[in-house]
Amino acid sequence: MSVHVPLPRRSRGRRSAVLGAAAAAVFAIGLLQPQGTAGADTTAASPQKQLPYRDAKLPTKDRVADLLARMTPAEKIGQMTQAERYDVADDPSLITEYGLGSVLSGGGSTPARNTAEAWADMVDGFQEAALDSRLGIPLLYGVDSVHGHGNLKGATVFPHNIGLGATRDPKLLEKIGHITAEETRASGPQWSFAPCVCVARDDRWGRTYESFGEDPNLARRLETVIDGLQGRRGQLDDPDRVLATAKHYAGDGLTSYDESKAGTGQYPIDQGVDEVSSREFAKLALSPYPTAIHRHKVGSVMPSFSSVDWTEDGLGNPVKMHASKELITDVLKDRMGFDGLVVSDWRAIHQIPGTYEDQVRISVNAGIDLFMEPTADGTGWRDFITTLTGLVDSGAVPMARIDDAVSRILAAKFELGLFEKPMTDRRHIDEIGSPAHRAVARQAVAESQVLLTNKRGTLPLSAKKSPVYVAGSNADNIGNQAGGWTITWQGGSTNDIPGETILDGIEATATKDVTWSEDASAPVPANAAGVVVVGETPYAEGFGDVGGPQWAYDPGDHGVPRPPKTMLLSDADQQAIRTVCAQAKNCTVVVVSGRPMIIPPDLQGQIDALVAAWLPGSEGLGVADTLFGRRPYTGKLPLTWPRTVAQEPINIGDRDYDPLFRFGHGLRTR
Ligand code: GLC
Repeated sequence: MSVHVPLPRRSRGRRSAVLGAAAAAVFAIGLLQPQGTAGADTTAASPQKQLPYRDAKLPTKDRVADLLARMTPAEKIGQMTQAERYDVADDPSLITEYGLGSVLSGGGSTPARNTAEAWADMVDGFQEAALDSRLGIPLLYGVDSVHGHGNLKGATVFPHNIGLGATRDPKLLEKIGHITAEETRASGPQWSFAPCVCVARDDRWGRTYESFGEDPNLARRLETVIDGLQGRRGQLDDPDRVLATAKHYAGDGLTSYDESKAGTGQYPIDQGVDEVSSREFAKLALSPYPTAIHRHKVGSVMPSFSSVDWTEDGLGNPVKMHASKELITDVLKDRMGFDGLVVSDWRAIHQIPGTYEDQVRISVNAGIDLFMEPTADGTGWRDFITTLTGLVDSGAVPMARIDDAVSRILAAKFELGLFEKPMTDRRHIDEIGSPAHRAVARQAVAESQVLLTNKRGTLPLSAKKSPVYVAGSNADNIGNQAGGWTITWQGGSTNDIPGETILDGIEATATKDVTWSEDASAPVPANAAGVVVVGETPYAEGFGDVGGPQWAYDPGDHGVPRPPKTMLLSDADQQAIRTVCAQAKNCTVVVVSGRPMIIPPDLQGQIDALVAAWLPGSEGLGVADTLFGRRPYTGKLPLTWPRTVAQEPINIGDRDYDPLFRFGHGLRTR
């Protein structure tokens, strides 16, 4: 076990210019490889601004080569290490001491005051500590801005990807990516772990809503969101752009459902095994990546927690994606030509069989460059540094691999302009959650609505003719309509964000009386148009798996544990539908969920109009826009809508394909 030697800090005083210049010259021509802190020349040359890596006019590759040659092994390993905000919040000097390359905010990991200014102050505080290191290498700060900067209260919260998949609108996706980037970068983080280019094949998967749907072609078409996030022409150093991440490489949505895990507290499908042939894996899992890399120049890739057996019949010995040199180095980096950085998922390397030393050795040699190693269960980023140091010392991990990883990380930092402008550029901070941004989100909500049935032309409703009767669990709950990755990791029914609920939207639109009764216990006027908004409560990752574990409740939920996920409508919602459809003039059911929900046959007969609203986010008005005809229904199903859960997985192209609604279905109005 190697002993960690704290890295030298950059002295603020003047150093011997002559010695420094000579050392810089020697380093620059690579004659002197630093042999670890003890032997390395730790005197900085003349003021750093004169060093080649400080020269913004030089090509990135030259700046990388110059800086790399100056770095000690300890500094290089520090750059490959990502801690979580909570690891360094109380002592940012750890960033300086260990030369950390990156810090992240996991879902819900916010500063004490969840405001844009507080976020920017937090990131800048960490940045100051990074700049205090000997070579002053700035920090990369990452966050999951997966539907807008959802962790930040006040940010524009867009529909989750499954709804955006229904829009079939690549230009809109680019606009959403740009707004997301602007609101993220203005509040500090320069890196978003998005988009998920996953292809969801079994809707029992808790991350179905993070995908654009079941079709890899649709995922590829909507990768324009990357252009919005990063810009199209080397704009990463602009104050309204962030580094994007194509995730989770690869086959996160192809895992098989393991019945033996249902109801046991484990994830029955999330982070599971892809039991597909290599041909299917290439078609369904790998195919979104070449376009993300070559057409959209995505700057980072995150491997999946899942495993795959990369052999012809797909039934042999599955390998964790984080351990697969063949898929990360040979396929992604060499064959696909990915030259950005590969960042591991949240402590994902701990799932690789073996000791922690095995896990680090295997994952680093597999080609992962930056390691998301938050502290948990007594281990974390410090152990990563110590372990990798030992592996480098012993030669188990070659320095060439370290240099490849660090070069990719430094290149991202140079491209982001962090050496020139390390602190948050706050010029757009007042545009966070602006009416203009929310208007785009409202348009996205409207375009994401899918009209599944519309008997007797029930929709659009007339805003003037009839009173409206609204019921259902998701009509007036902005936490439910936003879903996971909003304020908290799992989201929450009591998570409050600025915006409008669907009921707000209906009340703002209808001119006749609107009656609101969640359980439909209030009298239903016979001439009323009934609208029952039903669906799911929030979840994220495996906690959303059908049969998955129940998430421990959020304090805001007053200790009420969350219901297990089933894809079935709750009894209360089903009862509300029966009550309203039996008494109102007509009845429309709106499903707010991250995936299809089962509509029992007897209810199908009673429902006049059925709408899939997905997880619309902060702008509930967009749902009312289509309900009342302010905007037409144009959305198309991004995935197959099953008759029963037993039909899962069911996807377009299957034999005996007999869903309730086909992939691509969607009625239009006007
Ligand atoms: C999570 C997710 C990943 C996310 C990361 C950081 O476990 O799998 O999508 O980017 O951790 O929050």
